Amino acid sequence: MVEKDFLPKSNGVLPETGSVIWKAPSNIALVKYWGKKENQIPANPSISFTLDACATTTKLSFQNRLPTSDFSFDLFLDGKPKEDFKPKIKAFLERVAPYVPFVKEYHFSIETSNSFPHSSGIASSASGMAALSLCLVDMERQMDLKMDDAYFNRKASFLARLGSGSACRSIEGDLIQWGSHSGLEESSNLYGIKYPFAVHPVFQKYHDTILLVHKGQKQVSSSVGHNLMHGHPYAESRFAQAHDHLDKLKGIFASGDLDGFVKLVESEALTLHAMMMTSLPYFMLMKPDTMEIINKIWRFREESGVPICFTLDAGANVHVLYPESYKEQAIQFIQDELVAHCENGHYICDRIGQGAKKLIAPKR
Ligand code: PMV
Repeated sequence: MVEKDFLPKSNGVLPETGSVIWKAPSNIALVKYWGKKENQIPANPSISFTLDACATTTKLSFQNRLPTSDFSFDLFLDGKPKEDFKPKIKAFLERVAPYVPFVKEYHFSIETSNSFPHSSGIASSASGMAALSLCLVDMERQMDLKMDDAYFNRKASFLARLGSGSACRSIEGDLIQWGSHSGLEESSNLYGIKYPFAVHPVFQKYHDTILLVHKGQKQVSSSVGHNLMHGHPYAESRFAQAHDHLDKLKGIFASGDLDGFVKLVESEALTLHAMMMTSLPYFMLMKPDTMEIINKIWRFREESGVPICFTLDAGANVHVLYPESYKEQAIQFIQDELVAHCENGHYICDRIGQGAKKLIAPKR
């Protein structure tokens, strides 16, 4: 599908008033998206596990009004007005308006909450933008009853990408690929798709325990980091490596090659941070505790043979990945050795999830 396929098709009747609620999960990339062109067009393809526990729930209430050139909305986080998030939402509405033009004909109330604490250092932009996009496409579907689920998911992913690139991988589960890649014909820079190839059962119930090493504000935002890939001395070889890693993952997923998975995923995480450290200006988001955790994981894996590995997002927190069959050993190790490196001992137990869900408002 191309961009014009996401322009509105129906002239259906707009509902006067109403509300929709969607819960969208976060995701963790195995092959990382780092570097972008305008409008969140990725410089390289990426793939992620959709998560389950880390999620954003958004209720979008709408009331018809006379169209104006500006947007009208109130925003609440955990029931409290959140004025400082409004510019980001306004910029998002501006970007998506050509595809959902009815947004100018409503006053919205956006009530959002995260399952994880706001100050956990876990970015809520992926799950948050995905949940809001799903609400908007759900409104559109009320005017276009013929819209099928495949188009619904694609359009939600397309809109979410315009909010925050990796958000386009937070609509469906359980493995999502985003970005054009010759090994997957249907892949697109515009939206994420479900990974269509064989996946060995060992990868179907993976766990992700997120160690909250540093909960404060990051010193460099991911949009600044992406932009530093322009003119980066290693950019082209990094982008080529991501394509190569996706080709290799195909065999790894099909055969259940845990050793291959561990090597590839850790290499991706360290490459992401190596790109940050070799940008100009250079920066580093890992903390001493991040390194300690990585070293302990390597030692434990070597000594126990448990195929536990780590990945990192654009921050100091560590995602510890392991298959269901090693759950007891992994949790024991995490509690005995790794939790001491977390801020206030905090961590979140998550696992692979099946994507976003529509919720029904409780009756008052
Ligand atoms: O979606 P953004 O702009 O927050 O970028 C996300 C970048 C990484 O989390 C580091 C990698 C990824 O693919 O999710």
